[in-house]
Amino acid sequence: MDVFQAIQERREITTYADRSIPDKVLEKVVDAGYYAPTGNNLPSKSLIIVRNRPNLDSLAATTPYMNWLKEAKAAIVVTGKPKISKYWLQDASIACAFIWLEAVEAGLGAAFGAVYHSEDKKESFVRENHVRKLLSIPEEHHIVAILGMGYPEGTLKPKKHLAREDIVHYETFS
Ligand SMILES: Cc1cc2nc3c(=O)[nH]c(=O)nc-3n(C[C@H](O)[C@H](O)[C@H](O)COP(=O)(O)O)c2cc1C
Repeated sequence: MDVFQAIQERREITTYADRSIPDKVLEKVVDAGYYAPTGNNLPSKSLIIVRNRPNLDSLAATTPYMNWLKEAKAAIVVTGKPKISKYWLQDASIACAFIWLEAVEAGLGAAFGAVYHSEDKKESFVRENHVRKLLSIPEEHHIVAILGMGYPEGTLKPKKHLAREDIVHYETFS
């Protein structure tokens, strides 16, 4: 599969077959996040792999919007460290994107659970604290997102994308 095909085929997959992910497959997905670029090449991100069933179930309670973790066979928690780089949020976000795309190439389905919330510090603290306590993540790391994954169960209806001209502009915005 080429990169563009993975980009086009990527969807958020939230139902998974009862089939475990071989270590080699999961490690390659993790490596996609590991190899993702960072601003100024600074090491602001960390990736925490979770496969343990009780921990996946507990992570599902981080927000009301990641119940799919109860079915997921693995999760990758992506964190960023502001002390290391002012681009920590972008660094973590691009790692999430790479992980999601490699999951597609590997035949997995992945879902994105937002944890850090830049517009609501209080909510962010509650969400992050839940994950932090469960996985012993030090205070200086923000918990940006949790990607859940597994082999997809079922198929999705094709996605209707927004009109390209509403998104893509040439030379100037208008
Ligand atoms: C920044 C961001 C935050 C998201 N947060 C969540 C979330 O908390 N829970 C969830 O189920 N999906 C979440 N998603 C997934 C989107 O809802 C999903 O990608 C979008 O509806 C488009 O569908 P598609 O991925 O199938 O193209 C998030 C995606 C992004 C990029």
